[in-house]
Amino acid sequence: MALREIRLLDDPILRKKSREITEINDRIRILLDDMVETMKEAEGVGLAAPQVGVLRRAVVIDVGDGPIKLINPEIFETKGEIIDVEGCLSIPGRSGKVPRPEWVKIKYLDIEGNEKFLEGTGLLARAICHEIDHLDGILYIDKMIEEVTLEEDDEV
Ligand code: NI
Repeated sequence: MALREIRLLDDPILRKKSREITEINDRIRILLDDMVETMKEAEGVGLAAPQVGVLRRAVVIDVGDGPIKLINPEIFETKGEIIDVEGCLSIPGRSGKVPRPEWVKIKYLDIEGNEKFLEGTGLLARAICHEIDHLDGILYIDKMIEEVTLEEDDEV
């Protein structure tokens, strides 16, 4: 595993749409491993492939229960709305209040290529939505209703 460079806000790659993964090969497996390591090193709760310069639909999330690797994740169903504070590893030192679904169910492929579903609430739901947005070139600041100055934030 290796650390990858996290792209920052001024990098135009963050605004591009990522392509679906059609074959889960060694390159994708290594990418996901590297993303987990990079996320841990940066103390984030999530990281999307475009944040390390790769325009493919891959996401890693760890809200404290161990890393989850999501390939081609898609929102399947959502319920409710909660406004809470979030940040982003690509936008260090800033955070803001963003409305997100209270509950989310997604469809994705696991590392073996099996189609799976994942449900989440709270921080997990927030992280899932934040990371899937990255795959479409959307950043939390696009949806932010208020900038917040905090000592500690959840950078996803
Ligand atoms: Ni982010």
